[in-house]
Amino acid sequence: MNLDKDFKPGAGKSYFVLNYGCQMNESDAEHYAGQLEDLGYAKADDFHNADVIVVNTCCVRESAEKRILGKIGELKRVKENHPGQVICVAGCMAQKDGEKLIKKHPQIDLLIGTAHVNSFKEILADFIAAKGGRVYDDMAIPDSEFEGNRVRQSGFSAWIPIMYGCNNFCTYCIVPYVRGRERSRSIENIVEEVEQAVANGYKEFTLLGQNVNSYGKDFGEKGMFAKLLRRVNEVPGVERIRYMTSHPRDMGEDVIRAVAECEHVCENFHIPFQAGSSRILKLMNRGYTREQYLDLVAMIRRYVPDAAITTDIIVGFPCETEEDFEDTLSLVKEVGFDAAYTFIYSKRSGTPAAKMEGQVPLDVKKARLNRLMEVQNVNSLARNREMVGKTYEVLAEGPSANNPNVWSGRTRTNKLVLWPTEGREFKSGQKVNVKIETAQTWLVKGQAE
Ligand code: SAH
Ligand code: SF4
Ligand code: F3S
Repeated sequence: MNLDKDFKPGAGKSYFVLNYGCQMNESDAEHYAGQLEDLGYAKADDFHNADVIVVNTCCVRESAEKRILGKIGELKRVKENHPGQVICVAGCMAQKDGEKLIKKHPQIDLLIGTAHVNSFKEILADFIAAKGGRVYDDMAIPDSEFEGNRVRQSGFSAWIPIMYGCNNFCTYCIVPYVRGRERSRSIENIVEEVEQAVANGYKEFTLLGQNVNSYGKDFGEKGMFAKLLRRVNEVPGVERIRYMTSHPRDMGEDVIRAVAECEHVCENFHIPFQAGSSRILKLMNRGYTREQYLDLVAMIRRYVPDAAITTDIIVGFPCETEEDFEDTLSLVKEVGFDAAYTFIYSKRSGTPAAKMEGQVPLDVKKARLNRLMEVQNVNSLARNREMVGKTYEVLAEGPSANNPNVWSGRTRTNKLVLWPTEGREFKSGQKVNVKIETAQTWLVKGQAE
């Protein structure tokens, strides 16, 4: 269906997007909001009374799925009190379990696959024109996407997807199955979106992809991610560039040099290592060893000595022994990460690891997670303490939820900083120099200069 721009079936009606999952989902959620506003819908304050509800789902771990299923169940009762409400289930769980979801949950009107984000407007308009009774469930993943209108959540920091999908097939991970193969956006297309966002006042840009280091490989070219960083760095008005996520196997010297040399690219490397034992890394199909990972860290420290290094870690992968786990602990101690996102291995049916022998009991996984978090908390505090007494450039975000006289923001290394306003006015997106006075595990506090 080709939509007339004056076609506004949502005039006088409202929408709400309930979002779960990673940054890519946050970015997609902004596209759902943008298209709903194109159709005339206005954002509701609360999902209960919205005329259209989009649940943008994640299935990376069972815990996420459970929470989302609870919410979908709740929407049945919500819809009973609001006849005519349109409930759309989008994202990775819709892609994985669409058929099951529709059968079990009659309240779902529309199912949107992960690759149909930008066709949502047409799908919804079509559904409204046919007056319900039909679920859109074409889950085929096309080769490429375009980027339509979006309503950004932040006023100064913008998500910029640079590629979609993943080709890595880490044996524990569901993402390649629900997001399809890697498709990169052209540099021109990306730069155009960045320029538009700059014109709208945006200052910080996070380039998104499941494995940004393989950006452009599908064009048959090498070294494209480093080129992209250098190109975005040249866009006038861009103040900070971030990117996620990097894969240690594909992270090369060219990218590290680009970070070191580009004024606006932030000194923050998020490089998930997942496990410290080379035996487990092999079973995970990660494509690097413990030693290669440590060499990568050493290279980063050589080129960018002040960089913050963060990571993701999984405990309790099938047949992980106490010895393997201790390799993870020792790697965490050796690197001294600034922060780590730690996860208990979650069995995802359809992935190779789900069928592996030696699944680790939940109580063992929980105990390992606790031990790991204790070790990492010591690192985080130690790294934050190194900041005390120094002054950092902070991009102001806004006042704290519970105290309007305290503002927060982030350093280039992505550390959360709090400071009292002392009666001064600050603006979101403004650069403030803050001298750090105290350090905690998750944040630092100081005074604005
Ligand atoms: N593409 C990114 C993000 C993937 S999902 C990357 O490769 O880093 C984010 C994190 O979730 C992963 O880094 C991994 O640590 C974790 N994760 C993925 N699948 C998981 C599973 N089945 N169980 C537990 N954690 C998982
Ligand atoms: Fe999942 Fe691995 Fe792809 Fe990341 S790189 S999305 S962990 S398969
Ligand atoms: Fe979740 Fe899909 Fe992101 S499974 S982590 S929302 S790619």
